[in-house]
Amino acid sequence: MYKLAVLRGDGIGPEIIDQSLRVLNYIEEKYQLDFDIRYAHFGGIGIDEEGHPFPDSTKRIVDWSDAILLGAVGGPKWDNAKQRPEQGLLALRKYLGAYCNLRPIITFEALKKMSPLKLEKDNQIDLCFVRELTGGIYFGEKERIGNMAYDKKQYESYEIQRIAKKAFELSKKRSGKICSVDKSNVLMSSKLWREEVSNMNKDYDVNLSHMYVDNAAMQLIMNPYQFDVILTGNMFGDILSDEASVLAGSIGVLPSASIGDEKGLYEPIHGSAPDIAGEDIANPIGMIMSIAMMFQNSFNRTDIYDFIYCNVNKTLHEGYGTVDLKLEKRVTTTEWTDKLINNMKEDADS
Ligand code: IPM
Ligand code: MG
Repeated sequence: MYKLAVLRGDGIGPEIIDQSLRVLNYIEEKYQLDFDIRYAHFGGIGIDEEGHPFPDSTKRIVDWSDAILLGAVGGPKWDNAKQRPEQGLLALRKYLGAYCNLRPIITFEALKKMSPLKLEKDNQIDLCFVRELTGGIYFGEKERIGNMAYDKKQYESYEIQRIAKKAFELSKKRSGKICSVDKSNVLMSSKLWREEVSNMNKDYDVNLSHMYVDNAAMQLIMNPYQFDVILTGNMFGDILSDEASVLAGSIGVLPSASIGDEKGLYEPIHGSAPDIAGEDIANPIGMIMSIAMMFQNSFNRTDIYDFIYCNVNKTLHEGYGTVDLKLEKRVTTTEWTDKLINNMKEDADS
């Protein structure tokens, strides 16, 4: 029995969660698994219902769970709230000690033509960000004093070492190549970053390179094929992973896993898209692939990850896509999920 906390959140969060849970339901049946699911308020809905983006009642459900699924948080409604929904998200990551954010840039074959970039036909982009998630400028001291404001960017050696360890371990399972991204020509914290990462490679001996973040932003577009594991800090990882999502064709298809030493948090990398909320047109793939990542990372079921990935790929290949994908057969969120589940059933029968 797996205990699952589900935070549907705001905007399109609830609808992509609801559709993804239908997929999970089918997986439960097929693999004879048993999920105990509890819902909790989080983000804007947490503020509305309980006065806080990460209320205590949600903390208790998170404590109880083995893993957490999150839809999306935020929206203009809470722009002037005392605490923004995003602060709940940062607090949750910190609470879980989820210092490692894995963001694979999955390029589905059918979406290659979607990218505004001219991608090479016979070349496969296969890269994964390993982003530090509970430190750096997001969590440093910050203050507003009249006409002056500051955000302190600070990293301690242990924080760099533990995220680097995750990247080294991941790269051993992949091609053995890591590019560590920093700004060590200017920032002191980046200098320490580079020093620690280089030192650790004495134990791992992978093909390690270092790149300044400005150059990395350019290289991702010029020659994305050169990358495998990209190791970087919190804010650089936030920015570069959005940039790299363009390579996948739509940010709507990309999942993430936030892990630490304990339970994992799984959420798509896209936002809450309040402008299209409630219309049943949002892309559910980022959320569905986040469930796949949960099986891979929390429950050691790579076979289930593969099963989900293959059927998502197949459904896209058949030409079905939500509006953002501009494929031949435009369908709603619910219809796309129907197609996927049908494909899964056919796969199981054959
Ligand atoms: C992300 C988001 C968050 C971040 C926001 C919503 C706080 O952009 O997960 O990438 O900056 O980490
Ligand atoms: Mg972001």
